[in-house]
Amino acid sequence: MANRLTVARTVPALRRALAPFREAGARIALVPTMGALHAGHLALVKEARRRARRVVVSIFVNPTQFAPNEDFGSYPRKFETDLAFLRAAKADLVWAPSAAVMYPDGFATRIEPAGAAKAGLEDKVRPHFFGGVATVVAKLFTQVSPDVALFGEKDYQQLCVVSQMAKDLDLAVKVVGVPTVREKDGLALSSRNAYLSAGERRVAPALHRVLKAVAKRIKQGEPIEIVLEEGQSELVRSGFVVDYLEARHALTLAPVALRKDGPIRLLVAAKIGKTRLIDNLAV
Ligand code: PAJ
Repeated sequence: MANRLTVARTVPALRRALAPFREAGARIALVPTMGALHAGHLALVKEARRRARRVVVSIFVNPTQFAPNEDFGSYPRKFETDLAFLRAAKADLVWAPSAAVMYPDGFATRIEPAGAAKAGLEDKVRPHFFGGVATVVAKLFTQVSPDVALFGEKDYQQLCVVSQMAKDLDLAVKVVGVPTVREKDGLALSSRNAYLSAGERRVAPALHRVLKAVAKRIKQGEPIEIVLEEGQSELVRSGFVVDYLEARHALTLAPVALRKDGPIRLLVAAKIGKTRLIDNLAV
C-alpha cells in the first residue's frame, strides 16, 4: 500500500495532523523547502528519516526573502510533482500554507539576525534576505515544533544563520546540516539551474572546479589572498561575473587571512548570464 502523505494548509489542520505523532511519542523532523524539489532536497528528507520517526516537509515560497527585483513571481512551483517525490521518499506530512496563512493581515513581527547574517556575503547583495529566512524559519519551528530540522550545506550562510538563531532563542530543535548534492560534473543541484541555457550549463561546473582547486592550494600552504585572486580570475575567464569568492571561518563566517585562523570554508557567488549561482566548500 502506498504510504499516506497528509497535506496541511492551515495551522489548525497542521496541529491536527501532528497530534497523533506526538501522542505516539514519535521524534519529529522538519525539512523546510520552497518546493520545486530535486535530489538535493530529497537527501534532506532521507537524512530526516534516519533521524526521526516522522518527517514533515514544508513547501512555502516565502515572499519576505525575495526583493522586489528578484524571482518570487517566476520561482518554479511544482506542487503535484513535489507530492509524488515526497510520497516516494516516505515523508509523512506536507505543510503547505498560503502566504495569507503564514502572514495574515496585520502581521507585524520580524526576526532580525546579526552575526553570520551580516558577514558581507549573500547579505551584501540581498540585504533583506536573512531577515526573511529567519522570520519564516522561526515560524516553521514554532508551528511544527520539530526535534530536529535539516538544512543543506549548499546554502551555507543560511545554515549558519539558522543554527545561531535556534541557539540564541533557546529553541528545542537540533539544526543539522546535510552535505551538498551535486551533478556528476560537480554543479550543485539548485532549482535555479533550470534557468541556465545549454551554453551556460556547460560553463556552470567551473564554480565547483575552482573551489576545489582553491581549497587544494590553501591546504598546500599557498597564501590565501593570492589563491583567491587567481580563483576569481579563472571564474571570470570561464564567463562568470563574480559577486564574491572568499575564505571565511567555517562557524562564524568571519574573514580569515591565514590557514591557522580556520577551520576555513570557501564561499562563492557568481552570475552566468542572468542566473546567479552560489556554492561553498570546506578547506
Ligand atoms: P530551498 O531553496 O527550497 O532549499 C530547501 C533546503 O534544501 C535548504 O536547506 C537548502 O540548503 C537545501 N538544498 C538545496 N539544494 C541542495 C543541494 N544541492 N544539496 C543539499 N541540500 C540542498 O533554502 C530555502 O529553500 C529557503 O530559504 C527556506 C530555508 C525553506 C526558508 O524559506
